Amino acid sequence: MEKFMLLNDQVAVITGGGSGIGAATAELMAAAGAAVAILDRDEAAAAEEARKLSANGACALAIPVDVSQRVDIETALEKVVSTYGRLDIMVNNAGVTRPSRTLEVSEALWDHVISVNLGGVFWGSQAAFRYMKEAGYGRILTTSSTSSLGSFANASYASSKAGVVAMTRSLAMEFGKYGVTVNAVGPGMIVTPMTDDLPPEIKQRWIHKTVVGRLGEPMDVARVFLFLALPDSGYITGQMIFVDGGYTLPTMK
Ligand SMILES: NC(=O)c1ccc[n+]([C@@H]2O[C@H](COP(=O)([O-])OP(=O)(O)OC[C@H]3O[C@@H](n4cnc5c(N)ncnc54)[C@H](O)[C@@H]3O)[C@@H](O)[C@H]2O)c1
Repeated sequence: MEKFMLLNDQVAVITGGGSGIGAATAELMAAAGAAVAILDRDEAAAAEEARKLSANGACALAIPVDVSQRVDIETALEKVVSTYGRLDIMVNNAGVTRPSRTLEVSEALWDHVISVNLGGVFWGSQAAFRYMKEAGYGRILTTSSTSSLGSFANASYASSKAGVVAMTRSLAMEFGKYGVTVNAVGPGMIVTPMTDDLPPEIKQRWIHKTVVGRLGEPMDVARVFLFLALPDSGYITGQMIFVDGGYTLPTMK
């Protein structure tokens, strides 16, 4: 049977694609027919992910990048476009968390979280929009979080993820007339290296608060990214979709 290629001939860039949600998104977009570029600060992880995808027959490229550095992203996207000839999808997903009580937050911690989680999404979107504006088409995607609603002892992360929602809406307003949509996904607790170290009792409490009774898998989030990246999803923009098993619903439990 012929494969149904949803993203045939398209090029997708995924930041933080070396691990977790980003890696699952790269895998799914490659399976849907896109050539993918994995941008990650962890050079070895990005290279390994690209190798895996190439071994499965995909076009995949790894580029070491620190998303908080505007020049890094610009240079990486130049490389993507010179290699593949176009850029259709930009997934601004790389992120960090540094939970800390407010009185323990240093300037360095604050600057790091905000410059990666908020700055990285902005520089990635800006760099991608240069190409997408020219082409009259694009899908920019961002990773927010249920923490955008507030997160105990993690104000830097919550602020950055709430900022991502405001940024997504603002960019959507500006880019729409050029055929470029901008949407966010807000994961709940997803099983990735970011959440590996959390104590089991915190995970249990989280599971109890969801209505589906489990933690999320990276693919749960990747599927929503794929949906928002499709050419047919062009009437959705400036939105944030929570992928949280119902965690943010008012529960009766
Ligand atoms: N796992 C969760 O429960 C969860 C929940 C909500 C939101 N998120 C968000 O999802 C995104 C992906 O997280 P994950 O859970 O897959 O975590 P992860 O730690 O598995 O992956 C994050 C990736 O981002 C890369 N990265 C970090 N800083 C970078 C930088 N400055 N430049 C380039 N790459 C950088 C890391 O090397 C890593 O490969 C993040 O934005 C995170 O905040 C995660």
